[in-house]
Amino acid sequence: MAKPLNIGMIGYGFMGRAHTNGYKRVCDFFPELPYRPVLKAACARDAAKIQAFADQWGYESTETDWRKLVERKDIDAVDICVPNNLHKEISLAAAAAGKMILCEKPLAMNVAEGEEMCQAVEKAKVPNTVWYNYRRVPAVTLAKQLVDQGRLGRIFHYRANFLQDWTISTDLPQGGTALWRLDAAAAGSGVTGDLLAHCIDTALWINGGIADVGAMTETFIKERKHTLTGKVEKVGIDDACAFLCHFQNGSLGLFESTRYARGHKALYTFEINGEKASIKWDLHDLHRLEYFDHGDESNLRGWRSIHVTDGDHPYMGKWWVPGLAIGYEHSFVHQVADFLDSLGKGVPCGPTFRDALETQKVCDAVLASAQDRTWKKV
Ligand SMILES: NC(=O)c1ccc[n+]([C@@H]2O[C@H](COP(=O)([O-])OP(=O)(O)OC[C@H]3O[C@@H](n4cnc5c(N)ncnc54)[C@H](O)[C@@H]3O)[C@@H](O)[C@H]2O)c1
Repeated sequence: MAKPLNIGMIGYGFMGRAHTNGYKRVCDFFPELPYRPVLKAACARDAAKIQAFADQWGYESTETDWRKLVERKDIDAVDICVPNNLHKEISLAAAAAGKMILCEKPLAMNVAEGEEMCQAVEKAKVPNTVWYNYRRVPAVTLAKQLVDQGRLGRIFHYRANFLQDWTISTDLPQGGTALWRLDAAAAGSGVTGDLLAHCIDTALWINGGIADVGAMTETFIKERKHTLTGKVEKVGIDDACAFLCHFQNGSLGLFESTRYARGHKALYTFEINGEKASIKWDLHDLHRLEYFDHGDESNLRGWRSIHVTDGDHPYMGKWWVPGLAIGYEHSFVHQVADFLDSLGKGVPCGPTFRDALETQKVCDAVLASAQDRTWKKV
C-alpha cells in the first residue's frame, strides 16, 4: 500500500498546473510506487485566486504566505513553482523545516545562490530535485541511452536551439504577472536562464561536463514600461544568446536561444554527431527520435525516424499501446514517478540541486563571457 506524501504547492501558474497534473495522474499509471501524492495545500498571495485554483485542481487547503505553508506539520514536500528570485529563500526555509523540495528551474538567480541552496538541502539531508523535465521525454531518455551504450562512438558535435518569438513587440511591458520573465530582478537573466538552461541540462546529462564557453548576448529592446512601477525602465535581461563551448569529452558545442525568432513558439532541438552515428530531436515532434547509423548497409543507410511509443521505449510501457503518442505533460508525470521511486529506494532523484548547480555554473559563465567578450572557464 503506497504511503501518502503531502504536497505543498507554491504558485498556481503554468508550472503549478503542470506539476499538479503530474501528482494527480502518477499513481494511475505507475501503481507500484511506494508513495502517493496528496494535494494537501496550495499557496499564492491572492486568497481568492488560490482558493479558485485549489477548488479546480483538488487541493485540500490554501495559504497566502509561503512561510506558513513551509512550516505546516502536515506538509512533507514543498514544490516551488514561483519566479526565480524566490527559489532560494523558499528552499532555505523549506530545508530548515526538514521538507523535501521539488524546485523549478533554473535552480537560482546565480551560482552563489545555488551553492547556498545545495548546502542547505545537504545539511538538512532532505530529498531534492529540480524540474528539468525534458530529461523525461521518452525520446530524450532514449537519446541518453543510445549515447551511454556507445552507439554514437566518439562525440564530435552537440548542437542545441531554443527559439521563441513572443517578446518582439516594443509595447510588451516588463514585470508583474506572467511578464516577470522580462524583469531581471525576478528572472535573473533572460533566455539564458529561462530557455538555454534546459538545453544545457540535457547536454550535461547526455554529453557530460562543459569546460569553457564563448558567448554573445543581445537585448534588442532596451527599455520597457514596468508593470509594477508604471515607469519606463531599462531592460536588464538578455533577449537572445548564442554560445560556443568545449565539452570535457573533447566535443564542440553550439547553443542558441532567442525570443525574437519570428514563427517559432518553442523550438527546442538538439543534434549530436558521433563517429558511428548521429541523433536529432525536436520538441515540436517530441515522440520521435531521428537516428542515423553509419553501421547500416550502405545501400540502406539513411536517417530513421523512430516513433518512440513502443512498450520497450523509456516510460512507454506505462501508457497506451504501441504507436500511440504521449505529450509534454507526461514528462512531469515521469519526473514525479521517478522522484517517488527514488524516495522508496532512498537514492537521489536527478537532477538534484547539486546537479542543477552545474547548469547554473554554465549559465553564469555564458553571461560573464558575453559581458566582456572573452572565453570563460566553467
Ligand atoms: N520546467 C519547465 O519547462 C518550466 C516551464 C515554465 C516555467 N518554469 C519555471 O517555473 C517557475 C514558475 O514559472 P511559471 O511559468 O509557472 O510562472 P507563472 O507566472 O505562470 O506562475 C508564477 C506563480 O507564482 C506565484 N507567485 C509569485 N510570487 C509569489 C509569492 N511571493 N508567494 C506565492 N506565490 C507567488 C504567482 O501567483 C503565480 O501563480 C519559474 O522558475 C520558471 O522558470 C519551468
